Amino acid sequence: MKPVFDYRRMSFYQIWIRSFADGNGDGIGDLYGVYDKLEYIHSLGVDGIWFSPIYPSPNADYGYDISDYRNIHPDYGTLEQFRKVLDRAHQMGLKVLLDLVINHTSDEHPWFLESCKGGSPEENPYSDYYIWRDPLFKGEDKLPPNNWYSQFEGLAWEYNEQRGQYYLHVFAKKQPDLNMDNPRVREEVKGIMRFWLEMGVDGFREDVITFISKNMALPNGNPFLPAINGLPFYNNGPNLLDYLQEFRDVAQEYGALQVGEAPFTTTASALRYTTGKHKVLDMMIQFDHMMADCFLTEYVHHRFSLRKLKRAFTKWQNALGKKGWNALYLENHDHPRVISRYGSHKFWKESGKMLAAAYLFQKGTPFIYQGQELGMTNIRLDSIDQYEDVASKHAYHTFFKKEPVSRRLLRIYVSSRDSARTPMQWSRGPYAGFSGVRPWFHVNPNYLRINAESEEKDPDSILHFYRKCLQLRKNSDVLLWGDYHEYFPKSKQLFMYGRRLEGRDEQILVLCSFSRKAIPYRLPKGLDESSAELLLCNYPEKTPHQRGMLRPYETVLLRFIQKSS
Ligand code: NOJ
Repeated sequence: MKPVFDYRRMSFYQIWIRSFADGNGDGIGDLYGVYDKLEYIHSLGVDGIWFSPIYPSPNADYGYDISDYRNIHPDYGTLEQFRKVLDRAHQMGLKVLLDLVINHTSDEHPWFLESCKGGSPEENPYSDYYIWRDPLFKGEDKLPPNNWYSQFEGLAWEYNEQRGQYYLHVFAKKQPDLNMDNPRVREEVKGIMRFWLEMGVDGFREDVITFISKNMALPNGNPFLPAINGLPFYNNGPNLLDYLQEFRDVAQEYGALQVGEAPFTTTASALRYTTGKHKVLDMMIQFDHMMADCFLTEYVHHRFSLRKLKRAFTKWQNALGKKGWNALYLENHDHPRVISRYGSHKFWKESGKMLAAAYLFQKGTPFIYQGQELGMTNIRLDSIDQYEDVASKHAYHTFFKKEPVSRRLLRIYVSSRDSARTPMQWSRGPYAGFSGVRPWFHVNPNYLRINAESEEKDPDSILHFYRKCLQLRKNSDVLLWGDYHEYFPKSKQLFMYGRRLEGRDEQILVLCSFSRKAIPYRLPKGLDESSAELLLCNYPEKTPHQRGMLRPYETVLLRFIQKSS
């Protein structure tokens, strides 16, 4: 058993490759483009990269529907090119994590094509690789085996004519769920892990990992809660810990990192999987803090509530702060851009930086999503046909159908995952410097203002602010290991948190204004700002921070030396 490297000191950069950088001139991001941008990634001060899926996929869910686990999508390059990226990243001291998507495959995966042929497991080893059930009948009409809804596309069951049975798909129809209770399927997973770990990959981000074991009695769910009514039966299923332990054993042969992604996860289950003698994952990607402007799903949009956001932050910091370890993020390929959600377009630069400080100095391992460090924002498109994301399209055609088109498009504008999937804005050049030809997806027209090249030149840019934050975090024991305390939790405009290390006379306080207006603030009892060192502020140096007042979306980092109580 090899211990996993110290991921707690690190931060990671997430690449959603299709929109990152086009290196071979076909309008699609690829591993040639990634290779060319490794210097840039390294220059941010991160310690590793997480690649969203880069494997062959029909792209029903852009890579999360895999048709070959041991290869590279031809759009993105070859295994040889991947090895080059891996080697170069390693030379630079960057770790590389791949996405392990094992809850489901593509319906074009050879396992599924074989499984559709049916037959006994002796005749057809793939027969039980998926979750198949006979239809129920109402007279002549075929009905699915239960009333579960999928997360992306209507009912969770699809009838397959060839086999004469329904298969389960918790996500899109083209993403049939694997039957993890079949030991052969688990052996396949271990083989896939070994394949990449032998190549030198440093670990995995594990997709919807708490869904892989199901209650196979498949009981009906609550009919009034579509979209998630099967959740109690396919999340945290009866054999989950055992299966995760099997995969843990493989990861541990290589000292590989395992980051579990788990929608709807609770602090209790995160503690269960990441601590103690049954530790089967190193950290978990949870969703609570991504719900501060919506209800249950991001398609049911509400006004942003800072108190809701703070409650989520503090809940996770308190629950995992001492015993466990948090994965910190504000953006990824599953959520619209955070400035458009929790910040302000008017105060774009200020709010972009403030949001960085609001999460990067919490206790945990930060993940930064491509373009977040530039302050990229949501894209506004004129028709649903211009969108690509299966979940956005389905939501548009299903929910709020009676509303006028403009209103429904507004809902998609604020909620679509496609906003995080527009081409990376590298420069003011054609197609934002992403590609020499028309890219596969729309470039956000604001690239003339928001792009890496311009931000490199501007010492006051969001990009440089991210670099400063990561530097500060890396060089401060208090920021790495200190306890988290939230102050003034009831405030609707101010998020204030402190980090303090037991036995040290130092406290770092992070003040974040979420207000469009200037607001007064006071410090927690016993702290006097005149004795504090200002470590960071998101306004330019020539307009210094004034004690007692925060300008719109101002953030400051203050360091106090005091006797610890
Ligand atoms: C979570 C992934 O992050 C998301 O992009 C994907 O659609 C679902 N899991 C299904 O794989």
